[in-house]
Amino acid sequence: MEIANDNPYSPYPMTAPARYLPPVLKSLRFPVIASPLFIISNPKLVIAQCKAGVVGSMPALNARPAAQLDEWLAEITEALAAHDKAHPESPAAPYAINQIVHKSNDRLDHDMQVCEKYQVPIVITSLGAREDVNRAVQAWGGVVLHDVINNVFAHKAIEKGADGLIPVAAGAGGHASVKSPFAMVAEIRQWFGGPVALSGAISSGSAILASQAMGADLAYIGSAFIATEEARAVDGYKQMITECNSDDIVYSNFYTGIHGNYLKGSIRNAGMDPDHLPESDPSKMNFASGEGANAAKAWKDIWGCGQGIGAIREVMPAGELVARFKREYQEAKAALLAA
Ligand SMILES: Cc1cc2nc3c(=O)[nH]c(=O)nc-3n(C[C@H](O)[C@H](O)[C@H](O)COP(=O)(O)O)c2cc1C
Repeated sequence: MEIANDNPYSPYPMTAPARYLPPVLKSLRFPVIASPLFIISNPKLVIAQCKAGVVGSMPALNARPAAQLDEWLAEITEALAAHDKAHPESPAAPYAINQIVHKSNDRLDHDMQVCEKYQVPIVITSLGAREDVNRAVQAWGGVVLHDVINNVFAHKAIEKGADGLIPVAAGAGGHASVKSPFAMVAEIRQWFGGPVALSGAISSGSAILASQAMGADLAYIGSAFIATEEARAVDGYKQMITECNSDDIVYSNFYTGIHGNYLKGSIRNAGMDPDHLPESDPSKMNFASGEGANAAKAWKDIWGCGQGIGAIREVMPAGELVARFKREYQEAKAALLAA
C-alpha cells in the first residue's frame, strides 16, 4: 500500500513507499529486539529474552575463543526448540547474532560459517555494510539488519543488500549518533518501506509505542538489559545503572575512536574526569581476536550505557523486564486511546 501525500508544499515525496516486513519479523508478538551487547550478552540472556517473546541477540565476538560460538549456538537452538515443544501456545521469538563487519575483525569468516551451520534467523551487522555477508545470510534464508548513524549510511546499507535498518539515534548506549530519532526515522521512511528497528534510550513500554508511532516497526533496546540477572556484567555496573539517569552519561570517542555513550561513574572509577576527556581518532578501533583487542579492554572497565536508564530502578530477571515492558506498552496504548 502506498500512502499519498497530497500537500503540494511538502518537501517529502508524493508517495511514501509501501511498508513490508519479512515473515520472521512479522510473526513477532511484541515489537522489540533486545540488542547485542559486547561482553555482556550470552546464551543465558538470549534464551531468556527469546522465551519472553522479544528477539534476543549477542555479538558473535562474545564467544571467546572462537570455537565457543558453535557451542553457544547449539545451546540456544536446543533451548528454544525445547521451549517451543513445551509451550506451543507461546513459542520463543527468533534470535539474532551480531557481526562486526569492520576490517579488523579477523574472525568474520569463521563466525559466518558457524552462523550458516545453525541457519541463524537474523544477523545484525555493524560498522560497515558488506554485500557478500548480506548475500550469504540471505542464501540460508536469514534476514540482515544493519545499524546506521545517518541517512547516507542507511542508503549504502540497502544498496549493498541489507534487508532492514537500525537507526542508532542520540542517547543510545555504546556507539551512538547525535541525531534525533524523529529526524532519522522520518528521513528513512521517505524512501524505505522495509524493516526499521529504532535504537537509542528506549527503556519503557511507552517509548516502545512511541517508536512505532514515529514510523519504526520495532524498538531496539540495549542498556535496560544490562541490569538483568542473566547479563554478564559485574554487580557494580548493574547497580550503577539502577542509580543513574541521563545526567550521568557522557558522549566521547576517547576509548574506541568512535563516539559512544558511557557511564561517568565508571570513568571516575578509572581515575579520569568524564567532563574533560581528550579527543581520539578512529584508527584506535580494533576488533581483532588476539591480545591486541583493545576494544575488549576499553569496554570491560569503561561501562557503555545509553541515556534511557532513568526508567531502570532495579536489577531483575530479563523475563520480568520484558513482562514490565509489555504491561507498560498496553497501558500507554490505552491511555492514548482514552485521551
Ligand atoms: C555496553 C554496550 C555494548 C554494546 N555492544 C554492541 C555490540 O557489540 N554490537 C552492536 O552492534 N551494538 C552494541 N551496542 C549498541 C546496542 O546494540 C544498541 O544500539 C544500544 O544499546 C541501544 O541503545 P540503549 O542502550 O540506549 O537502549 C552496545 C551497547 C552497549 C550499552
